Amino acid sequence: MEQKDQIRTNEIKDMTETQRQLFYIEKAAMYVQGLKEELGRRPTCCVTTFGCQMNARDSEKLAGILEKAGYLLIDEEDADFVIYNTCTVRDNANQRVYGRLGHLNSLKKKMPHKKIALCGCMMQEPSVIEKIRKSYGFVDLIFGTHNIYKFAELLVKMFESDGMVIDIWEDTDKIVEDLPVERKYPFKSGINIMFGCNNFCSYCIVPYVRGRERSRIPKDIIREIKALVADGVVEVMLLGQNVNSYGKNLEEPMTFAQLLREVENIEGLKRIRFMTSHPKDLSDELIQVMKESKKICRHLHLPLQSGSTRILQAMNRRYTKEQYLALAEKIRQEIPDIAITTDIIVGFPGEMPCDVDETIDVIKKVKYDNAFTFIYSKRTGTPAAAMEKQVPEAVVKEGFDRVLKVVQDTAREQVSRLLGQTLEALVEEVNEHDDRLLTGRLSNNTIVHFEGEKSLIGQIVPVHLKECRGFYYFGEMTI
Ligand code: 5AD
Ligand code: SF4
Repeated sequence: MEQKDQIRTNEIKDMTETQRQLFYIEKAAMYVQGLKEELGRRPTCCVTTFGCQMNARDSEKLAGILEKAGYLLIDEEDADFVIYNTCTVRDNANQRVYGRLGHLNSLKKKMPHKKIALCGCMMQEPSVIEKIRKSYGFVDLIFGTHNIYKFAELLVKMFESDGMVIDIWEDTDKIVEDLPVERKYPFKSGINIMFGCNNFCSYCIVPYVRGRERSRIPKDIIREIKALVADGVVEVMLLGQNVNSYGKNLEEPMTFAQLLREVENIEGLKRIRFMTSHPKDLSDELIQVMKESKKICRHLHLPLQSGSTRILQAMNRRYTKEQYLALAEKIRQEIPDIAITTDIIVGFPGEMPCDVDETIDVIKKVKYDNAFTFIYSKRTGTPAAAMEKQVPEAVVKEGFDRVLKVVQDTAREQVSRLLGQTLEALVEEVNEHDDRLLTGRLSNNTIVHFEGEKSLIGQIVPVHLKECRGFYYFGEMTI
């Protein structure tokens, strides 16, 4: 090794992880610069996200690094570098990735310098890596959820290697702060407050692919939000697989409700959302903080999964139908204007039509503003995958349709409660179908469309809700 390189290597050893990655961003930038000269234009990149809000936030981190390295971010997959940030919560998410990879391959054949990377939850499954290695040899880089903070370093490795670079870790306890982020919206942002999950619901693959629960220290979270607010953010979404157990593993433990109090005090921040709450950990303290808060939005996503106590037990959810109903009732009593939304799974092993009846009973009693209904998907390695009595497809379909019908009817009724009121909406974008209209979001997460100038995007404006169209409104701005 030359002396210069030796010095460099020693320097890297002494760096913090953040400094190391910033160093690799600079190094990646040299390769991107080389490519720019070769192509005679700025190289482009495209980050495609599958799955949840956590993945969306991770994608903003990937985009931040790519942008810093010199790439131009675009939305089209004919870009010079394409990365898929994958999800594996249900099998159809995996199938979509395989389907689209074929298309990427045909694009790559037309532009051999094109690089393709895969990361995210799906890559934590050994069978997936096996399949990609075997049948998708054109992929250049694969990494998982635990080493995403090493993206810059892996990018350099990819540039310096001829074959497929694969780096998957089983776990990590590391949280690396202060890497670049490229936000999708200038005025709102997700913030990770914790990573991983310890709940092991028997159907769910998340604890296996995202690892054990780790909370970020409050000081880092607050610092990040303050910086975002200084940069124009008015709404934050605190993200975690189970935010209600935030802080339990910190050196100085603190509750999620206490964290919310601190976030509330941040000057200039207007709205706070969070996702996702596990019913078993939702405390009275949290309900009180929400009730007293001027900034926490009137929306709670409270996954039910099933309304049958027998199925809930098999799912390892650790609450009964009655406990869930009592909790929802308490929340409605304390915060009457709150919108409650949920996730429901139909077709869990052993589920019978009478269990679906119980789920429907809960939907009718809680009156959700919206419910995401999923068909149970068998995930290899989870306890439910090995359970007997997997439900036949036709029975699942019948149950699913019944649930969906009730969900839609109740949601329509719930959403229409707001008719005639004037409420504040955060203007998010120009309406996709009619550019004379703006699209805004109410505190309770309902969408409203109204006439207005594009310059209002990012502002909170009062809107009179004039016409309810099922799950959204048409309104009129009242300033
Ligand atoms: N099959 C179907 N739905 C699932 N979910 C999680 N795992 C599965 C699975 N194996 C749903 C749950 C969860 C949401 C994010 O995805 O409802 O709340
Ligand atoms: Fe899955 Fe349960 Fe964790 Fe949610 S809380 S991600 S359903 S294991």
